[in-house]
Amino acid sequence: MTIKTLRNIEEIRSCVNRWRSKGARTALVPTMGGLHEGHLSLVRHARGVADHVVVSLFVNPTQFNNKADLEKYPRNEESDRSKLADLDVDVLFAPDAEEMYPKGFTTEVTVAGASDILCGKHRPGHFDGVATIVTKLFLQTGADVACFGEKDFQQLSLVRRLVQDLNIPIEIAGVPTVREKDGLAMSSRNVRLSATARKTAPKLNATLVKARNAILEGQKISVVCKTAIASLEEAGFSKVDYLELRAEDDLDELKTLDRPARLLAAAWIGDVRLIDNIIANKVPD
Ligand code: PAJ
Repeated sequence: MTIKTLRNIEEIRSCVNRWRSKGARTALVPTMGGLHEGHLSLVRHARGVADHVVVSLFVNPTQFNNKADLEKYPRNEESDRSKLADLDVDVLFAPDAEEMYPKGFTTEVTVAGASDILCGKHRPGHFDGVATIVTKLFLQTGADVACFGEKDFQQLSLVRRLVQDLNIPIEIAGVPTVREKDGLAMSSRNVRLSATARKTAPKLNATLVKARNAILEGQKISVVCKTAIASLEEAGFSKVDYLELRAEDDLDELKTLDRPARLLAAAWIGDVRLIDNIIANKVPD
């Protein structure tokens, strides 16, 4: 089935308005394309919580702090469209950069605190770009619910904060991370891994699992994290940006496991940066 594609803000707004006037609920799934099973699981979740599904496709230049990363980002609208074909998506919203950032654009949304920790600390400006584009997408579409992956846990947490702070009338749904069989979290950037790097990549998840188990056994958190970082470096990761235990709700750093928590990490293999996180309190079934 060919998916209806809209490229213009007025069109998407009036489309969702029409659905609302008939009492129907709309779910939005924001993406930057390079679609994989992780994205598709968000779309399936969206289908289950709303009457209509809008997938947005926009490679947002303002959230790339690294020009080469933006240039190398996979772009193939036709292939993305074919992946969505069987999923009963109502509309693909695929604006161009001029539609999103017309001449004279100056406003930026900043969620204070997010840029000081985890990915924010290592990717200056990244979360301002994310917060700005996500706010625009929420206001442009007027969707009732938006689905985000737990794979980008800090992003999910930031989006929840901004919706609450700015009283944007949209529900945020978090969807669990989809992984390859060997544990590697699916990501649009995985296609850039060399054959050797692809073999090393699952060690990021394996190391998080091992560290989580050590924490659950009662070992000292700071020691566990340090050991895990060293073992990633030994496994072939060229640089580890962070591997930390943080509170699930506000991402506060934790010295003891006294609240629901996540173990989060970001590490480089060559010029590819991978992120992952797992629940730290219990071993999932
Ligand atoms: P993108 O990286 O394309 O991801 C789009 C959505 O898919 C995000 O909510 C992300 O968390 C989710 N996702 C990615 N990999 C996943 C996986 N393996 N399992 C489950 N969900 C996964 O995140 C962005 O785009 C952008 O920052 C965006 C929110 C679209 C703003 O530009």
